[in-house]
Amino acid sequence: MNFRISTHIDELSQRLSSTPRGARLARHLTAHQLAAWGHPHDSDVSDTAQHVVAELAANAVTHGRVPGRDFELRLLRLPEGILRIEVSDTRGDRQLRFGAGEVDGEGGRGLVIVALLAPVWGITDRLVGKTVWAELPLEI
Ligand SMILES: Nc1ncnc2c1ncn2[C@@H]1O[C@H](COP(=O)(O)OP(=O)(O)O)[C@@H](O)[C@H]1O
Ligand SMILES: [Mg+2]
Repeated sequence: MNFRISTHIDELSQRLSSTPRGARLARHLTAHQLAAWGHPHDSDVSDTAQHVVAELAANAVTHGRVPGRDFELRLLRLPEGILRIEVSDTRGDRQLRFGAGEVDGEGGRGLVIVALLAPVWGITDRLVGKTVWAELPLEI
């Protein structure tokens, strides 16, 4: 696979297989891209971004998975020091059940974690499927 880690460009865009390996790669790519943008792997902002990407990618490859279709990770460095994370999958169902897990159950925490870590997040329809996005300040 041909990854495009960019140092000067303000965007990373990568299609990944809708598998646990693809989800892990999304997290690793996020760490590498943030490092290229001057935020080391162990910095707070990298740690936070990796957590958000891990949760959104895990959701894309489980709940959003359509067999044979990739999901897509996009990282955008916006003006005013904002990192925008976008994870797109091809499943049309955009009814995310925020906090849907049982109180003592394992499920339903991913989006709660995203909402705690990211000041703004949301879901946008696409031509095929949807994008779940979150924005973080790059200077935490
Ligand atoms: N990308 C997605 N596509 C479709 N449904 C989703 C997606 N992400 C989340 N959901 C729905 O929202 C619920 C809550 O997601 P989450 O908080 O991550 O909990 P969990 O993944 O543990 O079920 C999921 O159980 C699922 O029903
Ligand atoms: Mg989840």
